[in-house]
Amino acid sequence: MHSDIKQVLYPEEQIRKRVRELGQTITQDMAGEDVVLLALLKGSVIFFADLIRNVASHIRVDFAWVSSYGDGTTSRGVELKVFPDEDLSGKTVVVVDDILDTGRTLAAVVHKLRSEQSVKDVKTCVLLDKKARRVVELEADWVGFHVEDFFVVGYGLDYADRYRNLPYIGVLNEHCYQTEDAPGEAGICKDHGVE
Ligand code: PRP
Repeated sequence: MHSDIKQVLYPEEQIRKRVRELGQTITQDMAGEDVVLLALLKGSVIFFADLIRNVASHIRVDFAWVSSYGDGTTSRGVELKVFPDEDLSGKTVVVVDDILDTGRTLAAVVHKLRSEQSVKDVKTCVLLDKKARRVVELEADWVGFHVEDFFVVGYGLDYADRYRNLPYIGVLNEHCYQTEDAPGEAGICKDHGVE
């Protein structure tokens, strides 16, 4: 285990099994639909790559780049950096993200798709659902795991763009990140390699 991680919440094998189940469920639930799976970068990249290989129907993929946390732990507002410009008319878009936290990111993307594109439907799939932090009323259609209010990293999830390459999802040691209550001492963990 990486020295900055105090607890592994979801080991690789458990994630693999759950992502396989999610892929199978989406395959069944979306049968007969013209589906585009839309990954929200950067956090969903590993989850997305694994998920689509477990969807056994003809789908297309696309990507949006959305950011709200930057290098910190507090949302600064959702910034839609890059959004697909292809015609999604008549498509069922499944938005895929790594974590549903306050809900602001997913809500902004769903709103944009529904208001600006004549999509048939918008569905949502997240690997982690952290309900304790929700400020926007929103439920995902498919959820991998319901997670408590821990600061989690790995399998695509980051702190300050680090730890995404950990193959498992773990809880980051508190002394590795800056909080609003204890500003000024961020990033004292120096080793960001993978063990
Ligand atoms: C993270 C995560 C989700 C979002 C969830 O993205 O990947 O997209 O925050 O938080 P919310 O429910 O409170 O909106 P972030 O802005 O950190 O960018 P990243 O995907 O590049 O890590």
